[in-house]
Amino acid sequence: MRIVIAGGHGKIALRLERQAAARGDATVALIRDPAQSDDVRDAGAEPVVADLEATAPGELAEHLTGADAVVFAAGAGPGSTAERKGTVDRDAALLLADAAAAAGVRRYVLVSAMNIDSPPAVEDDDSVWAHYVRAKKAAEDALRARADDGVLDLTILRPGRLTDDPGTGLVRLGTVDGQPPVGYGEVTREDVAAVVLALLDAPATTGAVLDLVGGTVPPAQAVAALSGANAPR
Ligand SMILES: NC(=O)c1ccc[n+]([C@@H]2O[C@H](COP(=O)([O-])OP(=O)(O)OC[C@H]3O[C@@H](n4cnc5c(N)ncnc54)[C@H](OP(=O)(O)O)[C@@H]3O)[C@@H](O)[C@H]2O)c1
Repeated sequence: MRIVIAGGHGKIALRLERQAAARGDATVALIRDPAQSDDVRDAGAEPVVADLEATAPGELAEHLTGADAVVFAAGAGPGSTAERKGTVDRDAALLLADAAAAAGVRRYVLVSAMNIDSPPAVEDDDSVWAHYVRAKKAAEDALRARADDGVLDLTILRPGRLTDDPGTGLVRLGTVDGQPPVGYGEVTREDVAAVVLALLDAPATTGAVLDLVGGTVPPAQAVAALSGANAPR
């Protein structure tokens, strides 16, 4: 499989690249800082420099041609401005979708976040955190609209609080409206990366919106247990 990863030098992305390389998948890491090229090469990925806040969809599409899937693992990150929550966490996710459509790539896994369904109105909360939650929700809504139009084969993955602890190889994964609910908690970035790979192997998860925390089930088994996860949430 050939996977293009937006935010290719991110903490989840580097782990995803290493795991993908270990099983023989090719990854392309979209980065904005050429100085990160060696790191992503070390992780087994091919670096491509493209600033997702300053690249046109057609230009980005050239780097997606021939890919089997795209993964959005970018984010403005802690300490960024409210404005960049919009330009990265929302707009860059949509840019990747536009580029994917132009390149004929349908499969899209969005790394989103848990508990973003009811973002506060801007007049009630102008904090950077609130801008982040609104941006994540807006990205999800816009991508789901494209998926509903038949343009994307979309899976939305919503991890809980991310940690850099070693992977456990054990997760709890479920649809957002599932019963019992997954419940908020932590999950290692290593385990998130493993779940992303398992989702890419499972086209039946197209359409699913999934909460993810640490748990008791290996990622591939957790994904396999989602039969029917492509039902509307
Ligand atoms: N922190 C949490 O607890 C938590 C929980 C749930 C979900 N999430 C989400 O999970 C996702 C991945 O998390 P992570 O910890 O792996 O993120 P991360 O380490 O902060 O990586 C984000 C990547 O996005 C890149 N990026 C930012 N702006 C860019 C631009 N204009 N063009 C190209 N790349 C750009 C960054 O590159 P630079 O190095 O150039 O800035 C960085 O490599 C994020 O969307 C985050 O919001 C986080």
